[in-house]
Amino acid sequence: MAKKKSSAKGHIVPTTTLIKQPAHIAAHARIKSLAEYKKLHEESLRSPATFWARMAKENISWIKPFKKTLVWREPHAQWFVGGRLNVSANCLDRHLSTERRHKAAIIAEGEPGDIRVITYQQLHTEVCRFANVLKKNGVKSRDRVIIYLPNVPEAAIAMLACARIGAVHSVVFGGFSAAAVRDRVQDCGANFVITADGGFRRGQPFALKPVVDEGISGLEQIRRVIVLRRTGQTTHMQPERDVWWHEEMAGASAECPPASLDAEHPLFILYTSGSTGKPKGLLHTTGGYLLGATLTCKLVFDLKETDLFWCTADVGWITGHSYTVYGALSNGATTFMYEGVPNHPQPDRFWDIIERHRVTIFYTAPTAIRSFIRAGDQWVKKHDLSSLRILGSVGEPINPEAWRWYYEVVGGKRCPIMDTWWQTETGAHMITPLPGITPMAPGSATLPFLGVDPAVVDAKGQPVKRGEQGLLVIRKPWPSMARTIYGDAARYKKTYWSEIKGCYFTGDGARQDAHGNFWIIGRVDDVLNISGHRIGTAEVESALVSHAKVAEAAAVGIPHEIKGQALAVFVTLKQGLTGDDALREELRQHVAREIGAIAKPDKITFTEALPKTRSGKIMRRLLKEIASGNEVKGDVTTLDDFNVLSKLKAIED
Ligand code: WTA
Repeated sequence: MAKKKSSAKGHIVPTTTLIKQPAHIAAHARIKSLAEYKKLHEESLRSPATFWARMAKENISWIKPFKKTLVWREPHAQWFVGGRLNVSANCLDRHLSTERRHKAAIIAEGEPGDIRVITYQQLHTEVCRFANVLKKNGVKSRDRVIIYLPNVPEAAIAMLACARIGAVHSVVFGGFSAAAVRDRVQDCGANFVITADGGFRRGQPFALKPVVDEGISGLEQIRRVIVLRRTGQTTHMQPERDVWWHEEMAGASAECPPASLDAEHPLFILYTSGSTGKPKGLLHTTGGYLLGATLTCKLVFDLKETDLFWCTADVGWITGHSYTVYGALSNGATTFMYEGVPNHPQPDRFWDIIERHRVTIFYTAPTAIRSFIRAGDQWVKKHDLSSLRILGSVGEPINPEAWRWYYEVVGGKRCPIMDTWWQTETGAHMITPLPGITPMAPGSATLPFLGVDPAVVDAKGQPVKRGEQGLLVIRKPWPSMARTIYGDAARYKKTYWSEIKGCYFTGDGARQDAHGNFWIIGRVDDVLNISGHRIGTAEVESALVSHAKVAEAAAVGIPHEIKGQALAVFVTLKQGLTGDDALREELRQHVAREIGAIAKPDKITFTEALPKTRSGKIMRRLLKEIASGNEVKGDVTTLDDFNVLSKLKAIED
């Protein structure tokens, strides 16, 4: 489908046949035509303060109105200065005086099949009671609270309860290891942990509480661990420190007025991998983040009162934060949560859920789509998916084949696909089609969202020609941008605001086609995208060298049919040791212990030495080519020792 045509100046401008969105969506969409979008987008860039002030007034309930829309001292933004609000009141209280009061806020299905329906009224009660539990256990405004739970409604309740009293949550994905929990507890100085005995995965209960126990062992700073009973497995409770969720809730009052918080009050810290061994704790604040999540969720998914919105991301990731929880609830939508894996008990679990619950909006990741393709169309075709009206994709570039399958087999060509490009740092969608109106280009996230000013530039910050690849930057601040890296403002500045002068540097490469559509190529830094999850090569390398037998390690990404990228590592062992399959397995387990199962290497190659430049830098580019089974091309003149290269190739062959 992709064609290439030569421009007047002779360089190649890729174009794609665009696919028109089904007309019935535009008829009821909020933004009715591409022309209307263009006009609004232009206005939003011409007068950002006016535009965002209007959006903030229309979409958010303020306790006290803001005085100034933006104070920008690069790289530090303050949005909606002087305004006061509460995120949980926006997600709950404001719906109680409307017809939404008895509408389902959350419909949840556990992996064993247990179903819960929680109305706005009930969710409000649960959040207020849990906020009182937090208070009784000593949690105060600005205290950091680690949430380490399965993807169950209590995760949303815990997040909203923190937001209600001004505590700062940091959700840690349940697949991360004890060491990762410990790093995060220490980095953000948390005194409290909310966890569960365990959760269900692939038909089996797994334990979470022992992981917390190990992660925080010896850490005096932890004052309380609140434990949800989910699986009923035997769980050790440490007296004085650990309490049960249900016991604390039993006596808790449902009366808890929302704290009046400054627009810039910290809302949460979420860790993501960067190009060093240490994950970055991105800090998001109250007013701007809530506006970004609310507005994008409403416009990009065309939320209507009758929708059932299912974002399949775990709450441990930014997508779960912004769309499963904050964006959906702030709009008064019904959000769906599923605890387990897509292929249990059979590969049609997702399709079965969509059919039984009549899901209308379905938002998932390309890696999941590719694994569904592999499982076979018959699993989809068994089910009536006619309730679906809008599809979404996030986490990595969606390859056009997967796009087409998603569009045709899942959506029956009735449902447009919103391919949303954004990041933990951006808080909300940045480049995305809008329902009904944006011509779809399979594989491209298409056009900027309102108020977003992206560009593709060269290393000096000069815009490249249309069709050429460059670095993706954002030229203006936006409300839901992360404010800093918690505790490391210097790293925040260096990572995002120093690479390209005056711009936010995304870390992604991209090109823009003749239609103005943005095509994201992928990361240009040392971050891999494995199954839509960001994994830093340096993190994996430092996990490997912490093993007693490892002298040196290099991690690279190689193409993978389902995961997008797979993790290949090259390991040099300490003097006199030799590698075998047993040691490979030991190293895989070691990485799982240090980071989590998601970072386990797919391929481990033992080597006597790593290819390095004369100044001692590992030449990852060469390793990548070798690991992918490609001919080593490109410049090797900086390589220090050519023997290393031929030995490595000999191993791979
Ligand atoms: C990648 C997830 C292409 C990108 C919301 C980005 C995408 C990183 C897309 C952020 C998309 C996310 N098309 N690439 N639609 N969405 N990415 O922080 O490389 O987990 O920088 O946020 O995922 O990952 P993060």
